[in-house]
This record gives sequence, C-alpha cells and structure tokens, in this order.
Amino acid sequence: MQPVNSLNQAAASCNSVTVTDKLWTEVPELAAVYDTECAGRRDHDFYLALVARFDARTVVDLGCGTGVFCVDVAARGRTSIGIDPAEPMLDIARRRPGGDQVEWVHGSAADGPAGAAELVIMMGHVAQYFVDDDAWASTLAHVHRMLVPGGRLAFEVRNPAIDWASRWTRQSTESALDHPDGGTFDSWVEVVDVVGPPESYRMTHEGHTVLPDGRHLSARETLRFRSREQIEATLAAHGFTVEQVCGDWDHSPVRADSLEFIFVAKRT
Ligand SMILES: C[S@@+](CC[C@H](N)C(=O)[O-])C[C@H]1O[C@@H](n2cnc3c(N)ncnc32)[C@H](O)[C@@H]1O
Repeated sequence: MQPVNSLNQAAASCNSVTVTDKLWTEVPELAAVYDTECAGRRDHDFYLALVARFDARTVVDLGCGTGVFCVDVAARGRTSIGIDPAEPMLDIARRRPGGDQVEWVHGSAADGPAGAAELVIMMGHVAQYFVDDDAWASTLAHVHRMLVPGGRLAFEVRNPAIDWASRWTRQSTESALDHPDGGTFDSWVEVVDVVGPPESYRMTHEGHTVLPDGRHLSARETLRFRSREQIEATLAAHGFTVEQVCGDWDHSPVRADSLEFIFVAKRT
C-alpha cells in the first residue's frame, strides 16, 4: 500500500493502492460512483412522503450529496435547497437533469437560510458525519435557525447496538457494478478502528474502489454512532420535540435489531 497526500500526487497503477487523505466525497472519481452504489435505496420515498405530509413549501436537504432528493423535491413544485461541503458531489448534483431548479449551497448548516424551511432533512446517515458533540450541537442549532416555528427535522442514524464491524468486511460488502462511464468497478469497505463505549462510539472504515482502468483508490471515513437516548436528549436541548422514531423505512417501530433509528422532530 502506498500512502500519499492526495490522489493527484500518486501515479495510478493497476497493482498499487492509492490511499487518499481526503474524504471520499472530495475525490471526483469516488463521487462519480456514489449514485450507482446507492441504487435501490428505500429512504427517498419515506422522506418524500414527509414533504407532502407537512405540506413543506421549502425543503432543505443538509448534506445533499449528489442531489437526487433535491431534484425530486423541486419536481413537486417546492422550493428545494441542497447544502453540501463537498464540491465533487455538488458538481454531479448541479449537472443532474432538473438540477437547475434547485438552489445549491456549497457549505454546511451555518450557510443555510434563516427561518426559511418547513422541513430540513439529513438523509444517507449525514447525522453520523458530525463526529464531535460540538459539531452535532452546532448543526442542530443551525437547523433550528433554518426552520420556521413548527417546522420539522427528519434524519436517520444507524443503530449502534448492531455489530457493524462484523458486517462491514470485504467479504460481506464487496460488489462489482457497472461504471456510469462504461466497464465495471469493484468496491468494498472494511472497519479499521472503533473507539468509545458501545452506546456512543466512533468507527473508522476504509472504502476501496477499483475503477475500470485498474486504479485502486482507498479513503478512510470516521462516523459517529450515537444511542437513541443521546440523540433524543440533544434534540430536546436544541428546541426540538421528537414526534416519531421508526426502526425501518416501512414506518415500523424501533426494535432491538433495527438497523436504523429514523427521527422526525418538530421545532418548538
Ligand atoms: C453518505 S453521503 C449522503 C448524501 C445524500 N444525503 C444522500 O442521501 O445520498 C454524506 C454526505 O454528507 C456530507 N457532509 C459531510 N459533512 C457534512 C457537514 N458538516 N455538513 C453537511 N454535509 C456534510 C458529505 O459531503 C456527503 O455528501
């Protein structure tokens, strides 16, 4: 394995791994395969139903990534705002059909408009990207600022009680998929570090992608796994009332073996 500071510094080779110290979202080649890796996801319909249920005229998608959800919201005649700090992800979002109907913001929650939205969503486990408690608290404060009184915040996190480290192995995650530009690419993840108590830990995993031209890219990512109780306490501390917590996209309640905690909270 050949550690380098950025992909640009490394000559690609079929047999060596190019390890980037960037987030995968900051690497255009990795952003380019994200939508393909996400095919078949079940969360979009859940969040789109909330747009209708709360009759949200303005929706903010915080951590919008490649913008699929934002475009779907705009297509329903709503004001759609997508916020993300990763330019390669936003590049794809802007170029998406219907992308010109969305207001894209390169930044974080602090860059979102005040008092503008009836609904803020964070989908694709964005909430787990706020690894430090200060970052999570600051994000909740900014979401509160973005919402109109009575507006809703909806997001999901993975249940920390699930043994993710035994699920996120090369053997159980490796897949070969069609690359959007032709050929196939392989990808898998492997957990490399877990720090903290079972109810609130930081887990670092390494994502591997072998592109059709043979380049093997690797990027690490650290996510925070918080308990349901911890999230509910931080929501209450930042002016939210939890209205619903689901354990699956079919709206079923949380069980011990639920993979997700899906929160819908009202700005008080
Ligand atoms: C797994 S992707 C999910 C993207 C999109 N929400 C989806 O569901 O497809 C996580 C996204 O969170 C974004 N992200 C990371 N840190 C963030 C932050 N501090 N504020 C907002 N978004 C962030 C990343 O850039 C990335 O696009």
